[in-house]
Amino acid sequence: MKPTQIIPAITFSTLVASVSARAVFNANYEDGSVSSGYPTTGSYRVDVPGIEPGSATAKDAFYVVAGGAHDTAFAIANKVVLDDLTYVGNGFPRSEFGIGGFPGAIYKDGDHGKYSFSMLFKDLVPSVKGTRDAPAEDVVWQFKHHGGGHDLHLALIGKNLALGWGGNVYKQVVINDVMPYVNQWMDFRFDVLWKSDKTGQFTFDMKLPGECRFGHTVTKKNLQTYVTASPDGTPWTGNGSIQYGVYRHSANSTAGDAKTLIVYHDEITAINFNNKPDPFN
Ligand SMILES: *[C@@H]1O[C@H](CO)[C@@H](O)[C@H](O)[C@H]1NC(C)=O
Ligand SMILES: *[C@@H]1O[C@H](CO)[C@@H](O)[C@H](O)[C@H]1NC(C)=O
Repeated sequence: MKPTQIIPAITFSTLVASVSARAVFNANYEDGSVSSGYPTTGSYRVDVPGIEPGSATAKDAFYVVAGGAHDTAFAIANKVVLDDLTYVGNGFPRSEFGIGGFPGAIYKDGDHGKYSFSMLFKDLVPSVKGTRDAPAEDVVWQFKHHGGGHDLHLALIGKNLALGWGGNVYKQVVINDVMPYVNQWMDFRFDVLWKSDKTGQFTFDMKLPGECRFGHTVTKKNLQTYVTASPDGTPWTGNGSIQYGVYRHSANSTAGDAKTLIVYHDEITAINFNNKPDPFN
């Protein structure tokens, strides 16, 4: 029986080694602050709208809300109203938190990361397509590749929640109709091997209101997860990091997109198994 006693011991020591090497970013807003206790200035900072130059300045572009995911005290809300310049950030209607300074939240070619968060669509009025093929896409979670687009993301497109990958080249609807879940918390997770060649992989999953376990698994293997160029060949520079809130890059209220979009996020955890912990963890 010796081998069966030895194998768990080896597994355990491997686990301990990887736990001590990983970097973790965690924001649960339980302290009631808009940056969940992290600094909002300096190199280890959460990029907060209104504080970062060029970002949305509206007083209610983001705010702490009572009633977080899983019966916790607080969560964070991002709000964007179209046709109002105070909700424009860097040229687009947007209110998002950037976490680019945190080793747990950033990723580069070759890294392995695990990410989980909860999200709620507040009083959602879905955009309609009008005379277009589809309503505009509103990004609500992104793995943002700095100097490029998003490597992977989740977006509302009317009543659909869509998962995009390959730099927005591929899309799959993961919730056909979000309306039954409006004003309720939904749990999401990603496990990603970030690769610029064709050996990357990711697993996405979610737990919807009323469900007791995850079970909407989408797995893609042998693909480029760390995108290095747009389809037209424009190179993507820099590293990636998680970014969340509301980003309405193509929204057009005249064409049928809802004027106001409010999205809550909570319990964001980002782990990079290849980075060293930062001073906060
Ligand atoms: C990406 O991040 C690594 C550290 O994780 C750093 O050494 C490198 O300079 C970064 N690259 C760019 C282009 O920012
Ligand atoms: C917005 O939609 C209207 C109505 O379809 C259209 O006339 C207008 O050109 C659109 N604006 C932009 C910036 O695409």
